[in-house]
Amino acid sequence: MTLRIGERAPDFLASSTHGELSLHAWGSGFWIMFFSHPGDFTPVCTTELGRTAQLASEFARRDVKPLGLSTDTVADHRRWIDDVNRTQKTRVEFPLIADPDLRIARLYEMIHPQEDDRQAVRSLFIIDPQLRIRLTLSYPLAVGRNFREILRAIDALQFTDKHAVVTPAEWIAGDPVMIPSGVSSEAANEQFPQGWQEITPYLRVTVVK
Ligand code: BEZ
Repeated sequence: MTLRIGERAPDFLASSTHGELSLHAWGSGFWIMFFSHPGDFTPVCTTELGRTAQLASEFARRDVKPLGLSTDTVADHRRWIDDVNRTQKTRVEFPLIADPDLRIARLYEMIHPQEDDRQAVRSLFIIDPQLRIRLTLSYPLAVGRNFREILRAIDALQFTDKHAVVTPAEWIAGDPVMIPSGVSSEAANEQFPQGWQEITPYLRVTVVK
C-alpha cells in the first residue's frame, strides 16, 4: 500500500512517551505533524526533536499537534528526551511513539530498504482534522528537515482550504495568492470583490486578508 495525499491516515495503537496512543483518538479534530526518526541518541534526530519543541507555540497557534516516532523503546525515548532538552535548551512536550518492531514504520512506509532496512527514513505526514493525509515528505537519514518550511506549508494548506485559492512558489503568509485555473472570470469577480490582476488567463493574482 502506498500512502498518498488525500487518503485517510491509517489508525494505529502504539506505546508512546505519553502512554498508549491511538492516532485517530489522539489527533482527531486537530492537524497532526507525524514525523519519523531513524533512531534515538543520534545527532540529526536530536536537533530535529529539539527544533520541533522550540517551535511548540508556532505549531499550537496553527492547531497542529506534533507526533514523533523512533524505532526504539519508551525507556530509551525518555532518556534521549532528557538529552534533547538539555542539549537543545528546550522541553519536548509532544509524544514520541516507540516502534522497536517497526510495526508503525512499516504501516506508514517509513522503511526504505535501499536507504536502510532497519531504520526509518525521515518521513513526515501532515494530517488534517478529518484525518486525511494532506502532505508527505521523505528525507534521507543524513539530512535534517527545515521546520520553518513545514510551518510555511501548513500555513499554505490552511489558507488554501479556507479561501479556495492556490499559493505560488515561495509563498509566505500575507503574500498575494493565485486564482485556480478552473474558476471563471465571472466567478472570480464574485469570489474576490477586492479585485484581481490578470497576467495571462491562467496567471491571476489577488490579495486575500
Ligand atoms: C542522525 O540522526 O544523525 C542519524 C541517524 C541515523 C543515521 C544517520 C544519521
